[in-house]
Amino acid sequence: MAVELRSSVKYGTVLSFTVLLLAYWFRSPQSVLDERLGAVLSSLLRAERKVGMNNIARPRVAIGFGGCVDIIVDGVTLLNKIGLQPTDKPLHHDYIENVEQLAQSFAYFFAPGAASERLVVNDTLFSQLVEASRELPGNRWSVGGNAPVMAGRMASEGCDVLLGGSFSPDFNDYLSEHITVAGNTVEEPDIHLILEYPSGAIWGPYSSRRANRYIVHSDDHNPYLDSIEEFDKKLQSFKPDLLVVGGLQMMDNFPFKQGEREALLNRLAQLLSSASPQTNVHFEMASFVDESLMSNLLDLVLLHADSLGMNEQELPNLLSLFRGSTVTVLSDPNPRVATVLDQMRELYRIVNLRHRQTGRGRALTRLHVHTLAFQAMIVTHGSQWKNTMSATAKASLTANRHVCGSANIDPSKARLILDESFSVSRREGSQRIPLQESRPVSCWTEDEYEICVAPVLVCTEVYQTAGGGDNISAAGLVLQI
Ligand SMILES: *[C@@H]1O[C@H](CO)[C@@H](O)[C@H](O)[C@H]1NC(C)=O
Ligand SMILES: *[C@@H]1O[C@H](CO)[C@@H](O)[C@H](O)[C@H]1NC(C)=O
Repeated sequence: MAVELRSSVKYGTVLSFTVLLLAYWFRSPQSVLDERLGAVLSSLLRAERKVGMNNIARPRVAIGFGGCVDIIVDGVTLLNKIGLQPTDKPLHHDYIENVEQLAQSFAYFFAPGAASERLVVNDTLFSQLVEASRELPGNRWSVGGNAPVMAGRMASEGCDVLLGGSFSPDFNDYLSEHITVAGNTVEEPDIHLILEYPSGAIWGPYSSRRANRYIVHSDDHNPYLDSIEEFDKKLQSFKPDLLVVGGLQMMDNFPFKQGEREALLNRLAQLLSSASPQTNVHFEMASFVDESLMSNLLDLVLLHADSLGMNEQELPNLLSLFRGSTVTVLSDPNPRVATVLDQMRELYRIVNLRHRQTGRGRALTRLHVHTLAFQAMIVTHGSQWKNTMSATAKASLTANRHVCGSANIDPSKARLILDESFSVSRREGSQRIPLQESRPVSCWTEDEYEICVAPVLVCTEVYQTAGGGDNISAAGLVLQI
């Protein structure tokens, strides 16, 4: 009896120990991660809600330029449909003249999963691609272009928006009632073809490292900023709190007549420099490869901005131009926090040094960089920008909402890819900051500015990547004006 009892106690102990072990086994690592994810999510939501919009006076935001109709398709399905064989030579082209170049250019960005946007100079080819996309099952149409997407996000976040762009008559039906359009009416809107691909998509020998999109366009209206006069006229009485400029990449490699582009950008510079000091100016970067255009942008546009927004590709590209070297077409699509922060500090330093030395334009007081794994912001102390911590949290949440295509974030469709701690710089001996679940947005002070970093709950069931940067940047700005 006693023996039996002892052995059953023993059995009991062994059994419960085994159950414990099994439980631990099944708990880790997935459910531990899930718990962490849930905690990060609720903390980010709390941070986002911490500051509300002032409902009495809706912030006023003016956004230019242009817009288009997007056709969104699965990239690989489209290339298969037109019978384009995967190339064995991934290659960058400044613009696309024929199908071989399309295949090479697509392969170049598809494998690393870097966002890219190229002009197709061959009208026949572009029409063929659009026709094929129209017939593709599962295609979607939507209002596109940086300015309309940012306008849409701002309007739905509670702003009154003036949008500079020339649209077709039916375009207005798709815009929020809080958006007023300034521009001409055009019969045929410009069309952008968005080739989306999920992470791990396969095209011949290539597999995409992350979800992203490759965009082709062949615009007739957008490169000319043809809404600028109307926009400028309405701007006087609109008196915006914030003026946003984006969509200028439509000028990249566009076959302008001699001097035409410079004239347009000079006109834009004049508009920006006459903006009231009470109006903050934000410039949203994009995928540029045309060096002479970029150098015009640095001298005529960027100089007038208080705030810049860009992704992990655009940051090193801009930086290398400032350092006097050539464009960097492709950079690490999933960079470390330390690398990005060092690049941000450097850009901030160079832009502000230039401002102090020349006395022209505005000081840069805000820089927002969006990457797959995290959002990072630098904001100068004592500047006009408010609520940096909450804005970084909101930008991070918007990344998931946009890519998953849902305002409600489902933790089962999200993944944290940021490490448990990050180094604030690549310099030796730099401080490491742990990612705290209860306070996931880390903010600290350096020199005359504050830096905030927030992890992104990376969406694992991708609905759409295109327009992500615009939604994210707009969401970040909304809480800061
Ligand atoms: C333009 O594209 C069409 C269709 O793919 C092709 O037949 C033609 O050769 C291309 N033109 C040039 C100049 O490459
Ligand atoms: C991003 O902006 C576009 C245009 O305003 C909008 O249609 C889309 O729903 C936005 N995405 C999210 C997740 O808010």
